[in-house]
Order: sequence, then structure tokens, then C-alpha cells
Amino acid sequence: MSASNIAVHTAGNYNFYKIAADGKTFVIGGVPEEYSADYINIAASCDAAVLLTSNPEFTGGLDGVLTRNPDIEIYAGSACLRNIKAILNRAVNERLVKDNMSLSGIRFMVMPNLRWVDTIMAVYDGVLFSGEAFSGFDGSAVGLRQYFDKRLAVNKPYVRTAIKRLRTERLKAVYPAYGMTCPQGTVCESATVAELLESYEKWSAAETSSGRRAVVVYSSEYGFTGALAERAAKRLCGSCEVNVYDVSSSNLSEVIDAVNRADMLAIGTNTINRNAPERIWDVITRMDLMNKRGMPYFVFGSFGWAGDGIRLIDKTLTAMGMRGVTRPVDVLFKPEDKDMERMDAAVDKLTAAV
Ligand SMILES: Cc1cc2nc3c(=O)[nH]c(=O)nc-3n(C[C@H](O)[C@H](O)[C@H](O)COP(=O)(O)O)c2cc1C
Repeated sequence: MSASNIAVHTAGNYNFYKIAADGKTFVIGGVPEEYSADYINIAASCDAAVLLTSNPEFTGGLDGVLTRNPDIEIYAGSACLRNIKAILNRAVNERLVKDNMSLSGIRFMVMPNLRWVDTIMAVYDGVLFSGEAFSGFDGSAVGLRQYFDKRLAVNKPYVRTAIKRLRTERLKAVYPAYGMTCPQGTVCESATVAELLESYEKWSAAETSSGRRAVVVYSSEYGFTGALAERAAKRLCGSCEVNVYDVSSSNLSEVIDAVNRADMLAIGTNTINRNAPERIWDVITRMDLMNKRGMPYFVFGSFGWAGDGIRLIDKTLTAMGMRGVTRPVDVLFKPEDKDMERMDAAVDKLTAAV
């Protein structure tokens, strides 16, 4: 199907587009290598290829195009040009695209992190070539939402910025990298451009937060680390909204959701065989590093001989970019009053840091 002089091509749910403008032909977007036969045929005969990202999922046919047409002009943002040369390991006839630049009626917008850092979008004749944004539409909003959750939700602040900007455009259609186009093109009956923007606005909305949500997560075999966790929770209660989770008896997804919504974290671990227990590591490996970088934390725990687990967790969180507010509160076996006072002092540093 086509709108004006835009041709829509689809391969395995991936879309790419061909525009004839100003006596020049452009191919916009791309497909994975396994679906690239048509893309290579069509793009190789074009004057220019516009890359909306360097992500190989959407540039899988480019090497084949360059083999047939090494002089094809490659239009892309600066990060994308750098990346694509390192992905293909070859030089390209590069044309740098800057924000708001126009070329033969095609206007470019730099839209970082949707989903790759080097993403741009293009608008031609009121049609938005949106790349991964607005992808996944399958005739109902379900596919659109799933795609958003899986690929874009991690970068919600960037989605919000993009939507704000797109609201200022007069768009009559959205042509994404994957899934159905909207509202015309490869069949789309139930969404309008306004509905797409509204959905993305709703899904990417910033959570309203007091900014003082604390989570205490701990692992404890004999209750010693548990007693420290209780003390932390009690002190936090006065000034914060607190959730406390014993990892051995809590639903891990719930714990991780809470950690990823929190503004501060107190994490307690016992040490077993020179390590922290697996479920503590499970929480850590599933932390949202895109959005939780810099979150204040401290580590606490009871140990028996060297307390390696406590130090491992502390070092890992620091390496992940979290902000340790104090040295770990490490306690030899059963906590006594002076240890509880150390916990209070650590909690006070934590709350002071947000
Ligand atoms: C199987 C086992 C292995 C342990 N390995 C270590 C270890 O490598 N290093 C250490 O400091 N403590 C070790 N401990 C001691 C515990 O960390 C210690 O008993 C601690 O007080 C437990 O705290 P909890 O009551 O919060 O579980 C081990 C304990 C057990 C049962």
C-alpha cells in the first residue's frame, strides 16, 4: 500500500519505506538480515538510505545493499554513523543528519533512546517514520502495549520528551519499524495517530512519588540480619514510606518492582560460603540500572567469619552506579545495642541523601 509517493514494504512484520522526492529515491528504515532479500533489492536501487538507528535488527540488509551499491548515500545521526561503521566494519558514503534538518521534504528529529541511543525519526508529508516507537501494533492495542513494555518502558523519560515534541507536529500517519502502520497503509482500523500518542503518553507517565520511598530487602538464616532489617524499618517508618521484604519468603517479582520504584534501598545479607545468597543476587541483577543509577543505599548483615557476602554486595552496587551512603553495617553474629545504633546512624544517612 502507499500514501502519496511513499511505498510501504513489509517483511516478517518489519517495515521499510521508499520515498521518491525531488527526483531522488530514499529508503527509510530497515529489517533484520533474515528478512532482507526485498530490502536489499529495493534499497540497492535507491539514491539514499535513511537509518533511523544502527541496531542490526533494523539494518540487517545494509551490508548487502552496500555490496551492490557502495556509493549509496547513508543519512543518519552522528552516533548512528559511528555505530554502523563499527557494526558493518566498512566505510559508508555518510551524510550527517542533524536535528530539525530537512532534505527533499524529509525532516529529521533526533530522538535518543527510543530504543537505541542513536535513534532518529523522520517526517515526510505528515507521515512520521517512528522507528521502534509505536511498533508492535497488531490491530488491537495489545501488541502495541507489549512492544512498549518490552522495549521502550525502560526509557520512559525519553518517551515523554518525544511525545511532547510530536504533539507539536501535524501528523496524519505513523509508520513504525515493526507492526502495522497507522492509520493507513497495511490495514489499521482501530487506532488513530491521536490515540497512539495518547497511549504512549499514558504508559510513559511519570509516577507521582513522595520521593521518600524506602525498601528494606534482606536474607537471614537465624534471624540476625532480620533483626537489623527490623531496626532499619522501624527507624525509616518515622519519615518514609517503607516496604520490608525477606527474600526467602517474598515473591521476587514483587520485591524487584518495589526496589525499582524506590528512592532508597537498605539491603541486608548474611554470608554463606563466602557469598551472598542467590536470591539477594537475583534482586540485584534485576535492578533497573537505566533509571535507578545514583539511588542511595547501604548494605548491612550478620556474618560469622569474614562477611565476604556483605562486601561483595556493597562493591557490586557501587560498581552499578548506586550511591553508597555509608560503609556496610556488618555485625559478628547476633546484633547488640551498639550495632543497632550503627543501623540507626546508617538509616539517618540514607534518608538524608534523598
Ligand atoms: C553453611 C554456612 C556457611 C557460612 N559461611 C560463612 C562465610 O563464608 N563467611 C562468614 O562470614 N560467615 C559464614 N557463615 C556464618 C553466617 O553468616 C552467620 O551465622 C550469620 O550470623 C548468619 O546470619 P543470619 O542469622 O542473618 O542468617 C556461614 C553459615 C552457614 C550456616
